[in-house]
Amino acid sequence: MKPILVTYATMAGSTAEVAQAVAEEIEKSGLPVEVRPVDQVNDLEAYAAVVVGGPMIMGWHRAAMGFLKRNRQAWQHVPLAVFVLAISLTETGEREVDGLPIVVDETLPKAPATPGRLSFRERYAQLSRYVGPILAAARPARPVSVGVFGGRLALGGLPWWAMLFVGVIIQAPAGDRRNWAAIRAWAAGLPGKMEEEFTDFADVMQ
Ligand SMILES: Cc1cc2nc3c(=O)[nH]c(=O)nc-3n(C[C@H](O)[C@H](O)[C@H](O)COP(=O)(O)O)c2cc1C
Repeated sequence: MKPILVTYATMAGSTAEVAQAVAEEIEKSGLPVEVRPVDQVNDLEAYAAVVVGGPMIMGWHRAAMGFLKRNRQAWQHVPLAVFVLAISLTETGEREVDGLPIVVDETLPKAPATPGRLSFRERYAQLSRYVGPILAAARPARPVSVGVFGGRLALGGLPWWAMLFVGVIIQAPAGDRRNWAAIRAWAAGLPGKMEEEFTDFADVMQ
C-alpha cells in the first residue's frame, strides 16, 4: 500500500507540528503516512496522495509554492490537499475561492473596522488573496480540499524585514492561535474526500 505524504514548509516550526497532527488523523483511518519537509521529497509516484502545508510568510511560503508548481503535472493524477497557516484574515464572508469551497478555522477571521471599506492591510489579508495564488500554482488540477487555520506567531529572532512586515501589515499579537480541533477535524475528513474525487484512489491504496 502506497503511503500518503504529508509535506510542509516552515519558517519557525509551527507548520511542522500541524503537519504531524494532520498525519496522525489520517493514520487513524488505517492508512500509512509519511511526514517530510518539502525539500526532502523526491518521487511523488511513491505516494497515493499528498497533503502540502505552509504558512503565510508575505505570501504562501515560497518553498511550499515552489513545490506545488514543480509538481503541477503530478496533481492531475495524485490527489492533493493543501493547508495554510495564517495569523491575520479579514472577514469578508468569502468561503470559496475560484468556485472551490475553502475550510476556514472560524476563530481566525476578523471583521474589518469599517465594513464595505477595507483598509490596505484588510484587503491584503483576504481569503482570495491568500488562496488564489495557491490554486493557480496547482492548475490545471484542483486540490480536493484547502484548509486555512490560525498559526503561531513568534517575534523573537525574526530578521528586521520580517519584524517590519509583521508590524506594519500583519499587526497581530504574538501567540499561538492554532485550533487543534479544527485542524484535526479537517485532516480526519481527507481520506474520504480523496476517495470521493479520485475514483482510482481506492485502488491505489490496495
Ligand atoms: C515574516 C512573516 C510574515 C508573515 N506573513 C503573514 C501573512 O501575510 N499573513 C498572515 O496571516 N500571517 C503571516 N505571518 C504569520 C505566520 O503565517 C504564522 O506565524 C505561521 O504560524 C508561521 O508558521 P511557521 O511557524 O511554520 O513558520 C507571517 C509571519 C512572519 C514571521
